[in-house]
Amino acid sequence: MAKISVEVAGVSFQNPVFLASGIWGESGLSLARAFKKGAGAVITKSIGPVPREGYPNPTVVELGEWGLINAMGLPNPGIKNYRAEIETAKKAGAVVVGSLFGANPEEFATIALAMERAGAISLELNLSCPHAKGLGSEIGQDPTALSEVILAVRKSVRIPIWAKLTPNTHDPAALAEAAVKAGADAITAINTVRAMAISSKALRPVLAHGLGGLSGPAVKPIGLACVWQIYERVKVPVIGVGGITTGEDAFEYILAGASAVEVGTALSKKGASLFHEVCDGLEAQLEEHGFSSLKEAVGAAHRK
Ligand code: DHB
Repeated sequence: MAKISVEVAGVSFQNPVFLASGIWGESGLSLARAFKKGAGAVITKSIGPVPREGYPNPTVVELGEWGLINAMGLPNPGIKNYRAEIETAKKAGAVVVGSLFGANPEEFATIALAMERAGAISLELNLSCPHAKGLGSEIGQDPTALSEVILAVRKSVRIPIWAKLTPNTHDPAALAEAAVKAGADAITAINTVRAMAISSKALRPVLAHGLGGLSGPAVKPIGLACVWQIYERVKVPVIGVGGITTGEDAFEYILAGASAVEVGTALSKKGASLFHEVCDGLEAQLEEHGFSSLKEAVGAAHRK
């Protein structure tokens, strides 16, 4: 297992390959397992103010090599019930980042504080779910609404705030700039890309909700472009996510400007050994190309 520790917004992590939100984050025990299997940090499922059932099935469409489209509808038990899961993961030794969503700044601020108290080491604000009415990217595509959320969370907690941004916008770097101005300590890019599947047999959308979010290998070039543009505009660390399956994919994100990465969709095919694989592969790439540290490679493609 590679030993490339990394610092994101003043917090040290044992390695730069994190568990992305939305996969394996339902319970404290599944978070703890991902951490034990080698994740540098584990990011919870996005948690809201109250329990939420989510959309009816089907909620996922498999697209083979491309990845998948999902529209779960942000199902979660609500922060009051979820607090204990964070505490369980913490007790098992995991480094937990809390992912949260809300309908307004007050909801974000309240959940953020509960997550900080439960032991989250940083927060990742989900400002980017591509299809939930009044939530996610409906807030995160509007620099003013996004800033109000971040300002409220900044007032409510001391731990670092990562703003997870949407690729479904004409200028992701402008959103990142607004986020940093409002007090975000890091930017996570990207959330899923708005997408849908139509059944030519049933003559209707495949997902019950219709619209969903695309993740997996098909979105890597979109994620790289967002990270590239954001790195050029803001000084805070960028966490790259979208279509990472190999150490080489992670290395590409680092070269584009990411300080760390998250893996999600590939875990469902490859299993938990993916953390070690990506981490070792990234270290091999750094060595092969003569970088003496991960830091030295961050954004290196901009200097060529
Ligand atoms: C869901 C949430 C997301 O943030 C996303 O990118 C895709 C799907 C959901 O819960 O439906």
